Amino acid sequence: MFEELPILPPDSILGLAAECRADPNPDKVDLTIGIYMDESGNCPVFNAVRLAQRQLIDEEQTKSYIPPQGDPHFISGLVELVVGAEALGARAGCVGAVQAPGGCGAVRLGAEVLKASGTKGKVWVSDPTWPVHVPLITSTGLELGQYRYYDPATHGVDFVAMTEDLAAAGPGDIVLLHGCCHNPSGADLTTEQWRDITAMAVSQGFTPMVDLAYQGFGEGLDADVYGLRYLIEHVPEVVIAASLSKNMGLYRERTGLAIFVGPDTRAAEATVSQAKAAARRIYSMPPAHGALLAGRVLSDPVLRADWETELTAMCARINGLRSEFQHRLEESTGRDFGFIAKENGMFSFLGLSEDQAQRVRSKHGLYMLDSSRINIASLNSENMDRVVAAVTAVL
Ligand code: LMR
Repeated sequence: MFEELPILPPDSILGLAAECRADPNPDKVDLTIGIYMDESGNCPVFNAVRLAQRQLIDEEQTKSYIPPQGDPHFISGLVELVVGAEALGARAGCVGAVQAPGGCGAVRLGAEVLKASGTKGKVWVSDPTWPVHVPLITSTGLELGQYRYYDPATHGVDFVAMTEDLAAAGPGDIVLLHGCCHNPSGADLTTEQWRDITAMAVSQGFTPMVDLAYQGFGEGLDADVYGLRYLIEHVPEVVIAASLSKNMGLYRERTGLAIFVGPDTRAAEATVSQAKAAARRIYSMPPAHGALLAGRVLSDPVLRADWETELTAMCARINGLRSEFQHRLEESTGRDFGFIAKENGMFSFLGLSEDQAQRVRSKHGLYMLDSSRINIASLNSENMDRVVAAVTAVL
């Protein structure tokens, strides 16, 4: 059976990260995958997570399954972190949530429930978007649409083009938005633009779906969900895929949540039942470890404060790197890189062509995606000179 089975090319992000790991060049720099790295080039375990893990090891009595919907502390803690007490109060009883294996799993559960609703509409994704959105959504049978989003000429959001394209989205359509820290561009909507998109959703009747993988890495835990909460206050149905991979450093623990905001309690119950059924037929049960840790961190005031302090420091470090990198590139190339400091989160497009991105890799051991997306959080004082020199050389 497998004799004729085609061998697929490597994943566009994970494949390059593996290529970098295998590269013997001692001066190589990996700016590929979206992982927070500290000044010494390590992806740290949050102190609060480490403490919660010690407690869990001491107290855990069983490795039996957790409930199929997920760990209740984790669900209530993360729903409150994302939706916020105010919006939650206003939509009391209308919010359902099901734990998922990472943000990826949450996108898939969200798409499964939308598909089960019988919609014949499209899921509109930004051009560009995180490449994995495409298979996660289309594997449910939902059709994909695309709206213009990032303009390489201005290094920012082309909101006129975005709204022109979304003018065609109507009832039954779903519009996938990045809650903050747009992946891959780092270019986010302003508060005013979030309000405009909300008004379009209300008047045209499309359903927003929000991928929230970087809450706290932009302007802060609450500021980063301004747009999402505004949507929840005004739009009858919103789907959210939340992840704690990055902002709690739980990458390998696959800790995500699909959240459904519906018109009433019956609809919330229906979404939860559908998401649980989808999980059961795909992977059966949610993984426990990350959710049990996160449930403790989110509900224990001491751990929670410790986590928020560390996350704030990470965010400040990324913003410091953005401005240092901007100035170093400007000094070295004589070009304007002001956009780097204006963007949010881990990612930025450097504006290199595919050929330049490949040359910087083969000649200088500097690994970025072919689109020239880099992970700013992988820069540090040890590799900054090499990165600036290599980019300058190919420009
Ligand atoms: C990324 O975009 O690099 C991250 O979200 C990791 C991944 O799974 O692609």
